[in-house]
Amino acid sequence: MKLEEMSEFFTNRLDGYDEHMRTTIEGASDFYAYTAAQLPAQPGARVLDLGCGTGLELEEYFRLNPEADVTGIDLCKPMLDALAAKFPDRKLHLRCESYFDAELSPDTYDAAVSVESLHHFTAGKKRELYRGLFGALKKGRKFILTDYFAESEALEKEYFENLEALKREQQLDDGQFYHYDTPLTMEHEMEILAEAGFSDVRILQVWGTTCTVCAVKEA
Ligand SMILES: C[S@@+](CC[C@H](N)C(=O)[O-])C[C@H]1O[C@@H](n2cnc3c(N)ncnc32)[C@H](O)[C@@H]1O
Repeated sequence: MKLEEMSEFFTNRLDGYDEHMRTTIEGASDFYAYTAAQLPAQPGARVLDLGCGTGLELEEYFRLNPEADVTGIDLCKPMLDALAAKFPDRKLHLRCESYFDAELSPDTYDAAVSVESLHHFTAGKKRELYRGLFGALKKGRKFILTDYFAESEALEKEYFENLEALKREQQLDDGQFYHYDTPLTMEHEMEILAEAGFSDVRILQVWGTTCTVCAVKEA
């Protein structure tokens, strides 16, 4: 398998991306709407979406809350362009950068969400990100994470080992992101969220290996 750099991977698959996600990912016919329904309903609510892509979760959210004020971060410009074209009239601020590098203003957001994006990264990277995310949420607000998770610690370990072996074989730069799925187990993901300061970290819904998790910044 030839590894592709993250943004290049999604750029090359932009045609047909929405259809592919909705029809081939287990639970996708439900989880976008379910995830959106966990986000605040009040007009003007400020929501941060990490790895928003073409905005499948935002299509559902704007249906429920057309007056929401959404910031979407994604490192793939063509995905963001497709999202911007869907919602010319919504309050949508798009930032083309890695969420690991993004400056997040403290105590700003009424909710944060991420769907099918964070399963590419190590526990170490997520620890850092979740601390920043915790700081960016207002007190009493939630992070809603819908993603897929490794079914065991052995599998989690195997995914990371496979990725490292592929990078070595292909002599790839360690500082770059490549598209290769390395989901953590649900238990590890929840531990990292708790370490970042979140409380009441719990699973809300399960679709096969995909789950929606809720993590709260206590009031
Ligand atoms: C499978 S898509 C999911 C997009 C959208 N949330 C959805 O469910 O349709 C993953 C998205 O995460 C983005 N992504 C991956 N790593 C990222 C990073 N470090 N920073 C920002 N975006 C990232 C990709 O560019 C891609 O658009």
